Amino acid sequence: MLQIIILAAGKGTRMRSNTPKVLHTLAAKPFVQRVLDRATDLGAASTYIVTGHGAEQVEQALANSGAAFVAQTEQLGTGHAVQQVLPHIQPEASVLILYGDVPLTKTETLSNLLMLVSSESMGLLTVNLAEPSGYGRILRDANEQVTAIVEQKDAGLEQLAIQEVNTGVMAVKGKHLLAWLPQLSNSNAQGEYYLTDIIAMACAAGIEVKTAQPRSEAEVMGVNDRIQQAQLERIYQREQAEALLTAGVTLLDPARFDCRGTLTAGSDCVIDINCIFEGDVTLGNNVTIGANCSIKNAKIGDNTDIKANTIIEDSTIAGGSDIGPFARLRPGTELALGAKIGNFVETKKVHIGAGSKVNHLSYVGDAVVGKGVNIGAGTITCNYDGVNKHQTTIEDDVFVGSNTALVAPVTVAKGSTIGAGSTVTQSSKDHQLVVARAKQRNIDNWRRPVKNPPSKK
Ligand code: UD1
Ligand code: CA
Repeated sequence: MLQIIILAAGKGTRMRSNTPKVLHTLAAKPFVQRVLDRATDLGAASTYIVTGHGAEQVEQALANSGAAFVAQTEQLGTGHAVQQVLPHIQPEASVLILYGDVPLTKTETLSNLLMLVSSESMGLLTVNLAEPSGYGRILRDANEQVTAIVEQKDAGLEQLAIQEVNTGVMAVKGKHLLAWLPQLSNSNAQGEYYLTDIIAMACAAGIEVKTAQPRSEAEVMGVNDRIQQAQLERIYQREQAEALLTAGVTLLDPARFDCRGTLTAGSDCVIDINCIFEGDVTLGNNVTIGANCSIKNAKIGDNTDIKANTIIEDSTIAGGSDIGPFARLRPGTELALGAKIGNFVETKKVHIGAGSKVNHLSYVGDAVVGKGVNIGAGTITCNYDGVNKHQTTIEDDVFVGSNTALVAPVTVAKGSTIGAGSTVTQSSKDHQLVVARAKQRNIDNWRRPVKNPPSKK
């Protein structure tokens, strides 16, 4: 059985924020949520989050996470933090200790570490750093066996030269934690209860301390300020970009790519610079996306061409569509095969049938548009009467002339034609011509007004 403890009581002063540090985000997800995701991957039976600074905010944000919260009202050290969880620890469980401000650890690294835990051994995640300053150093004996961790502030000169450091992540049998944690003392340079002191206790008890290493340093980097947050964000985005490149997606510049969710793509997709993907986005084959697009929770079918500066949210695009530039597809937009949405067109809660076109400067919302429809420039569905929303239905093969206002609820029946500039308030019958505008008058020999002469004084 696996129990996980996530330390998240620290203040995070250097973030200079009213938001507790662990709720700050990497790729739109709180650091601590990324740590919780690892607990899910590993199938933890129970997860405890130790809260202190901003405890209420943290608990509120993670109320539905399934994790339990344990308060550490005073921050007396990492050992003291884990002590708060002792009443919940099962002797037979493997206990994994993580930090809530270390967002990029891989599940594989943690499962490698957990394989080192038994009744006779524990696991410690260490890393060799060119600049080990600030970290606890790993002490080993002549046989390379780990004997203790010494904190930076307690270390002698020789120890400070050691480059193998404690990442803070460790895995121990519950019964060992139950035996060792009550024995911690705070007689050290910082007057804190150090979790790291259990390493020497393990050695004294004949429990071997086995070590594992992450594949990259980034996996164990904590965030203390916004510079480190930005650095980890770039590392994470680069990793995702490279995964897509490896999968055969063209990114015109992987350094100008951001995915804050999940992006899956078929073959031969091309993504230009500065696009942002959020939530779950799926691209079919041969999808091209121009520069500066923002796409959130969308399914985009094969051979779709999305031009620059297009914004798409909660929409489904069947395929073969042309969208943008400067189009805005709002939630509930569904495009059937080969639909076309042009520049400065806004759509919302609308189904647009196969091959239909809304090419320029229009708003189409709360509407069902059939197949082969052409909607002229400047057409607006007037869907809101100030109180309620109403539906517009445009049947197959309708031609809507430019600058038409469709006052909902209204139905434009199959094959109808609407004259430009019409304000349509009544539904049509099949194949009718609808003209609803003031009749034109032409007046002969019209004289334009002339300017008044300047008044004499
Ligand atoms: C700790 C380790 C050090 C290691 C380093 C890795 C100890 C004594 N030292 O040092 O060996 O190299 O992490 O980053 O364990 N926390 C609490 N309650 C507390 C104190 C801390 O919840 O009372 C949490 C913090 O919010 C943070 C984590 O524990 O997430 C680590 O605390 P921090 O103060 O950063 O530990 P370091 O002194 O850096
Ligand atoms: Ca730290």
